[in-house]
Amino acid sequence: MTNTASSPPDSHHDGSAVAAHAEGRWATFAIAILAFIVVLAAIGGIRHSTMPQYQAETIDPSTLHINGEFVESNLGSAVEPDGSVTVRIVGQQYSFTPQCIIVPTDTPIIFRATSADAIHGFLIEGTNINTMLIPGYISSLPARFDRPGEHLMPCHEFCGVGHQAMWAMVKVIDKAEFFKTSAGKRRLTCVE
Ligand code: CUA
Repeated sequence: MTNTASSPPDSHHDGSAVAAHAEGRWATFAIAILAFIVVLAAIGGIRHSTMPQYQAETIDPSTLHINGEFVESNLGSAVEPDGSVTVRIVGQQYSFTPQCIIVPTDTPIIFRATSADAIHGFLIEGTNINTMLIPGYISSLPARFDRPGEHLMPCHEFCGVGHQAMWAMVKVIDKAEFFKTSAGKRRLTCVE
């Protein structure tokens, strides 16, 4: 009787020790998975914010001017329903369309641009805005301007004999003035 009475607690005790051990291993495993996911997310986030864009939307460069997002009437600055501004630009040998871009201060802006022919690129002087324009791909990057001003926007990828002459101008104007001017207009540029 004492045997039968003492043996079940013993086997019970062994069972719970095994269970505790297994539980510990599973907990370690789960924590390892979590840690792995956190590390992946951190690497992805750091890479996304520090590296040039490596994922781009595609577009057929041969039909840019005929249909889709980058037809000429769709280029320039457009106010979105959420109050942000999208600027669409096409680079081609040897100019940007539009030649003069107008944007507001203190507003989230997305530049969306592509190339109609060779590889181009642009940077906006005095800012960290810098991207390549590759035929077949849409370059999309966010921007924000604190102060009004004019910035030169040169092409920074050698694209042929006219490369040196390929540039546009970015005019940053006061937010209130921008939205007053843009009211009732679909697209805005400062091309005269
Ligand atoms: Cu376009 Cu250099």
